Amino acid sequence: MPKGRLEPRVPAGHPWATWGRLPQPVTFVVDGIPVEGIPGEPVAMALWAQGVRVLGWNEESGEPRSLFCTIGHCFECRMTIDGKRDQRACLFPVREGLVVERQHRPEELRPLDGMERL
Ligand code: FES
Repeated sequence: MPKGRLEPRVPAGHPWATWGRLPQPVTFVVDGIPVEGIPGEPVAMALWAQGVRVLGWNEESGEPRSLFCTIGHCFECRMTIDGKRDQRACLFPVREGLVVERQHRPEELRPLDGMERL
């Protein structure tokens, strides 16, 4: 080891040993379209990186919804993930083969009566 040079202190196999090197991307499906993401990153972040800003639509007004808090509090990022509705895409980790759908597409919107809102 040359004099004055620091010896690496991170043991091989420690997560920090791979710092700066991203894992291989995996493919998941959004509204039938294959999308790449890094395993473990939130679904919403993978979509944001692909330029997808609309994660769903408001069930009453039909207005597009997107990220707001990004920490799981506001529920603006709800998506159907692996068949389960209302999953928070800002928290749900990407993995190979995940099936994601945006909820309340405008063509699905229908008037809600008072009972359905409760
Ligand atoms: S962006 Fe607020 S809960 Fe996901």
